[in-house]
Amino acid sequence: MVRNLKKGPIKLKKGLSFKLGLSLGLIVFVAILGFASYCMHAHERQKMVILAFILLIFISTAVGLYILFFINRSLKQLLSRTRQIAQGDYEQEIIAYTNDEIGQLAQSLSEMQKEIKTKTLQLQRTINEFQTLFESVPCYITVQDKNFKILRTNKEWARDFGDRIGEYCYAAYKGRGTKCADCIVEKTFKDGKIHTSEEIGKKKDGSIAHFIVSTAPIRNEKDEIVAVMEMSTDVTILRLLEDELKKSEEKYRHLFNNDPNPIFVIHQESLQILDANQRAIEHYGYTKSELQKMTFLDIVSPRDRIRIKSLSANKSSILDKIQHVKKDGNLIYVDIRSSPVEYLKHNALIITASDITERLQTEQQLVQAGKMATLGEMSAGVAHELNQPLSVIKTGTNFFMDKIKKGERIEENALKTIAQEMDAQVDRATKIINHLREFGRKTDITKVEVQLNECIKGAFTMLGRQLELHQIKVVLDLNEQLPPIMADMNRLEQVFINMIINARDAIEERVKRLGGDEQILTIRTSLKDGSVVAEVSDTGIGIPDDVKGRIFEPFFTTKEVGKGTGLGLPISYGIVRDFDGTIEVESKFGKGTTFRLRFPVKTSPQ
Ligand SMILES: Nc1ncnc2c1ncn2[C@@H]1O[C@H](COP(=O)(O)OP(=O)(O)OP(=O)(O)O)[C@@H](O)[C@H]1O
Ligand SMILES: [Mg+2]
Repeated sequence: MVRNLKKGPIKLKKGLSFKLGLSLGLIVFVAILGFASYCMHAHERQKMVILAFILLIFISTAVGLYILFFINRSLKQLLSRTRQIAQGDYEQEIIAYTNDEIGQLAQSLSEMQKEIKTKTLQLQRTINEFQTLFESVPCYITVQDKNFKILRTNKEWARDFGDRIGEYCYAAYKGRGTKCADCIVEKTFKDGKIHTSEEIGKKKDGSIAHFIVSTAPIRNEKDEIVAVMEMSTDVTILRLLEDELKKSEEKYRHLFNNDPNPIFVIHQESLQILDANQRAIEHYGYTKSELQKMTFLDIVSPRDRIRIKSLSANKSSILDKIQHVKKDGNLIYVDIRSSPVEYLKHNALIITASDITERLQTEQQLVQAGKMATLGEMSAGVAHELNQPLSVIKTGTNFFMDKIKKGERIEENALKTIAQEMDAQVDRATKIINHLREFGRKTDITKVEVQLNECIKGAFTMLGRQLELHQIKVVLDLNEQLPPIMADMNRLEQVFINMIINARDAIEERVKRLGGDEQILTIRTSLKDGSVVAEVSDTGIGIPDDVKGRIFEPFFTTKEVGKGTGLGLPISYGIVRDFDGTIEVESKFGKGTTFRLRFPVKTSPQ
C-alpha cells in the first residue's frame, strides 16, 4: 500500500464514471428496444427508439454524475488523507460523505488517524523525555563503537570536553594516543555486562578531573551489541576533599603523636583505650596494641579509679595528681585533662596526661627545705620547751644524789612522787621530740580526713614557748565543732607555723619601729558557707600596699639577709591550693594583718 502510494497514486478518471453510466444506460436502451420490437407497430417502435435513446443519455449522465460526485470524491479524499497520514500529518479531518461502505471506510480511517496521532504523540513524548534525560543528567555520557570512537555525547560532555564526535574516546578523555590498558568499554563489548572503574581525565580547559565511570551495552533488534554507553561522574571535588581530609588527618596525627604529653583516646562508657599517641607508648612502656586491649583504669592506681570514673562525658574536665602505674610498675603522678570527642563513630574522651612527678618531687623538696628552715628557726623555742622537763628531771636526780651522798633513806611517798614527775617530764620531752621528728619527715601528697584545730594546736606544741619568750600573747578561739577537711596534717601544720613565725616577726618589727605594747596573735576557726575557715591575725607592722601583691612570690622577702628566704608564703599557698583551699590577706600598715584560709568541708570519700 505504502509502496503503491510512493510509486504513484491510483487515479479514478472522470471518464470511467461516465462509462459506467453509459453501460447502465445501454442495458436499459437494449431492454426498451427488445420490448418495443416484440409488442409495437413499426411507427410506434420508432418513437420508442427515440425515447430509449433519450433515456440512455439521461441514465448515463445521471449515473456518471452520481459516481463522480459521491464515490470518486470520497475515494479521492481517502487517498489524499492516507498520503498525509503516511507523511505524519494527522491534523486534516476525514469526512464521510455517504453512509455506504466508502463512508464506513472513511469513518475507520478517521479513527485510525486519531489512534496513530495519540500513539505518535506518546512516542514523541517518550523520545523527548529520554532525550532530555540524556542531555541533562548531571554526568558525562558518550556512546562509543567497537573501535572506541565517540558516536554521540550529551551536552554536559560537549561543554567540558568540546565537540569530539568521531574521535577516539581515549584521545578525547585523556589525550592518549592508544587505548587504555584496562578499558571497561572493551570489557562491556566482550561480555555485555556493566563495568565500573575510576579514571583520571583531562578536560578541554586543561584541568585534571577524577571520574567514576560505568559502561552499559546498547543492543540492536538481533540482540547484538552495536555500541557501548559510557557514563562518568565527576568526583574531583570529592577526591580533593578526601585529599584535604587525609592531609589534615596526617597533620593532626602528627600533632597527636608529637605532643610532649601522653594522649589517650578512650571509650566514654567502657573506658577502653581506643588510641594512644607515641609519647604515651614511650612513657608507659606498653605497645599500642597492648594499650588497645586495656581499659584506662588498668593504668590508674586503685586509689584514684573512682576519680577517673567521675570524668564527665559531656564537658571538659580536669583531675590533678592522679597516680598512674607504668608497665614496669613505677608510679607516676599526672594531671589529667579530658574532653569529649567523637572518634571513629564512638563517643570517646580524649585525655592528656601530663606527668607532674618531677614537679611534685621538686615541690616536695622545696617544702622539705622550708621545713628544715622552720626547724632551725624553731630550735631556740624547742630548746626552751625541752629545758623545762629537763630541769624538772635534773631537780629530781639532784635530790636523789644528795640523799645517796648523805646516806639518807628516801621516803617511799617522795620517791613515788618524784619518779612520777620525772616520768611525766620525760613523756613531755618525748612528745616534743616526736613532734619535731614527725614535722621533719617527708610528707606524702595524699589527702586524709583532718581536723584543722589539731594542726593549729600541733604548731603551738613547738612554737608556744617561743612566743611566750617573745612576750606575744596568743589567743586561740577555736570552734571545736568543726567538720573535718581533706588534707595532710603535717603539711597544714607547716602552713600555720609559717604564718605564726611571720606574725611573730611582724609584731617584733612593729614594736621596734613604731613602739607600743600590744603584742597579740589571734587564731580563730569557724564554719562559714560550707567552708572551714581559719584566721591568723596579728598586731604587727602590717603589709604596705605596694608589697601586698608580691608576698606570695617565691623568694620575695622584706626581711634582712639571712633571716628570711621568701619561701614561707609561696610554699603555704601551694599546700593550701593542693587541699582545694584559698588564702586571702587583709592588712593595714602599722595596725596588723589577717590571713584567712578556707577549705571545703569533706563531702564524699576520695
Ligand atoms: N603577718 C605579716 N605581717 C606583715 N608582713 C608579712 C606578714 N606575713 C608575710 N609578710 C610579708 O611577706 C613577705 C614574704 O613572706 P614569706 O613568709 O614568704 O617569706 P619570709 O617570711 O620573708 O621568709 P621565710 O618565710 O622564707 O623565712 C615577708 O618578707 C613580709 O614582708
Ligand atoms: Mg615567712
